[in-house]
Amino acid sequence: MGNDAKQLAFTVISCKIKMDWDVLAPGFYGTIIRKMHEEFLRFRLEQGLRLHFSKRMKCGIPTLKRSISSEAAYIMLKVRGSCVRGGILMDFFDVITKRFSVRSYKPDMVETEKLEKILEAARQAPTACNLQAFKVLVMKTDGNREALKKVYHREWFLEAPYVLAVCSIPEESWVRADGKSYSDVDAAIVMDHIILAATALGLGTCWIGAFNPQAAREAFRMDEKMQPVALTSLGYANETRANKRRKPVEDLVTFIE
Ligand SMILES: Cc1cc2nc3c(=O)[nH]c(=O)nc-3n(C[C@H](O)[C@H](O)[C@H](O)COP(=O)(O)O)c2cc1C
Repeated sequence: MGNDAKQLAFTVISCKIKMDWDVLAPGFYGTIIRKMHEEFLRFRLEQGLRLHFSKRMKCGIPTLKRSISSEAAYIMLKVRGSCVRGGILMDFFDVITKRFSVRSYKPDMVETEKLEKILEAARQAPTACNLQAFKVLVMKTDGNREALKKVYHREWFLEAPYVLAVCSIPEESWVRADGKSYSDVDAAIVMDHIILAATALGLGTCWIGAFNPQAAREAFRMDEKMQPVALTSLGYANETRANKRRKPVEDLVTFIE
């Protein structure tokens, strides 16, 4: 195997990323190791390489916790489909169940790469008639605490390094024939994309609807045509998911024959 191939393999399987182990549910370590191993084998096969899966990667959960700091985790960078580049491996349904409203955050900064991915997820959100009549405003908490206190007065809200506001632009959004505007619906979908993308990247969020809209307009310097619909804090969770109470599916779903 040539040096180029070695280098490529090394890049693929061992790029450094920042991961927040604490936010991950039990069982995650086993899953990540298994997925990494699968991807590694597939990659080795495709490339015709004779590489070995590192013993460190195969170690059990406690060893992994000890041997890999939150700053440096082994993760595959690329390799087709099932992995999130530079992020945490979660399939879509894991993301759905792992998401919860985070109301306690660590001071750790959110990496620019992750923020960019989240904003790209917002951009990809569907909107009525594809009018994209929304705006996402991103604010660093640092330096804006006084203004943000007036927007939503909770200690935890100011702990996260970022607050994101999703605004609709009603005059540009689609209106149904009966007069119903879809501006809030569009903004809600955008926020959901943001929240789920953040979850997939190991970040915490909390949808906030009970904010002071006038204070939000001022803090985020919104222009006249924007309507603040939803806010979220964005950062690394400092708590684990509590059990969610959800109605049984029969109460929420009706099949019409
Ligand atoms: C439209 C909407 C508005 C919300 N507003 C707030 C809010 O102002 N403050 C808050 O702490 N949580 C808020 N939440 C979070 C909900 O309380 C939370 O989603 C719900 O209790 C379910 O818990 P989970 O998100 O952990 O699954 C809001 C959620 C939604 C969807």
